[in-house]
Amino acid sequence: MSQSIKNIAPHGGELINRICTDEQRQEFLDKADHLPRVTLDERAVSDLVMIAIGGFSPLTGFMNQADYKGAVDNMRLENGLPWAVPVTLSVSKETADALKEGALIRLDDASGTFVGVMELQQKFTYDKIHEALHVYRTNEEKHPGVAVVYSQGEVNLAGPVWLLKREADPRFPAYQIDPAESRALFREKEWKTVVGFQTRNPIHRAHEYIIKCALEIVDGLFLHPLVGATKKDDIPADVRMRCYEIMRDHYFPHDRVVLAINPSAMRYAGPREAIFHALIRKNYGCTHFIVGRDHAGVGDYYGTYDAQYIFDEFEPGELDITPLKFEHAFFCKRTQQMATTKTSPSLPEERVHLSGTKVREMLRRGELPPPEFSRPQVAAELAKAMQIPVESR
Ligand code: ADX
Repeated sequence: MSQSIKNIAPHGGELINRICTDEQRQEFLDKADHLPRVTLDERAVSDLVMIAIGGFSPLTGFMNQADYKGAVDNMRLENGLPWAVPVTLSVSKETADALKEGALIRLDDASGTFVGVMELQQKFTYDKIHEALHVYRTNEEKHPGVAVVYSQGEVNLAGPVWLLKREADPRFPAYQIDPAESRALFREKEWKTVVGFQTRNPIHRAHEYIIKCALEIVDGLFLHPLVGATKKDDIPADVRMRCYEIMRDHYFPHDRVVLAINPSAMRYAGPREAIFHALIRKNYGCTHFIVGRDHAGVGDYYGTYDAQYIFDEFEPGELDITPLKFEHAFFCKRTQQMATTKTSPSLPEERVHLSGTKVREMLRRGELPPPEFSRPQVAAELAKAMQIPVESR
């Protein structure tokens, strides 16, 4: 391994590790029956994991009021570091009233399994509409991210956390590559520059096009699909994962791609989430991050390129990861290739524009995405998963 290859520094300078050592775990297990309990929902469990493995560095726990306010109002933690999305543990007032500041709390998942511990440093109430308007740019409950905020408890519990044990994700054990490991892998591969790609949709040709444009200028690709909680009508992670494998195996050079899962939950916060997604990938060791059209958007809440413009609100170097911004890509019928208006002479009617949303709608109607949109093996995989006869293509 080359000694000269160094990873980009994590956000805040230090890769956080909040996974219990064997001794800590034993200590917590001995105390477990006597600790007050809080049950985490799916997002909170994935946030706990992300904090523990360093994906959310520099966070060491769920946010206190100063960091929360800073993140919501100014996209900054109290210490001034950029951070665009709150990471909070919300509980009902009754639950909060029964907990004492200073106490250790046992964190259980929804099935009652003991997954972590928090040292409760602070309890604080918050304004949900204010959070919705700042983070999601809307107070409409039909926005899936806002709906989550509105359904949360009224009190946030703050303090450092410990993850009891880093369990392998039973769905994708081979693809669980945590930040310390991805960083080691990039060093081993001697990649000086690595582009991160966030996705929550079955991979389509516009994705492939922008990824390949990026691969022309960096050393490696970190294909990093999000497999935490998504909204109900998104395509399930296991189906998407098989599509990513097909792309990796048949359409990309093997030695330039690392496929790994991002365990976090989708917020659908568009521009704010683009910053969040970029900082997460920086923690995994990426130097560049792809931001295409309507990144992490939902419905028509955000302008096509709002998630790109938001990067300009930070001073150069503050985020310390370079966004690679791509225009809306389409299949150009005139030149018979993927393109954007930057590269294609086509008229609007000569462009096949498809999106993850359109693919989901087609699949729901029992139709398959056309070859201009999806590689045939990917379309066949989707057909199998959605039980659509391949002839309908
Ligand atoms: S997202 O919620 O994770 O952003 P998706 O998986 O569809 O959704 O997008 C992954 C990345 O590809 C995002 O950066 C998005 O902006 C980009 N993208 C998706 N479709 C297109 C397209 N047709 N043209 C350009 N960029 C796109």
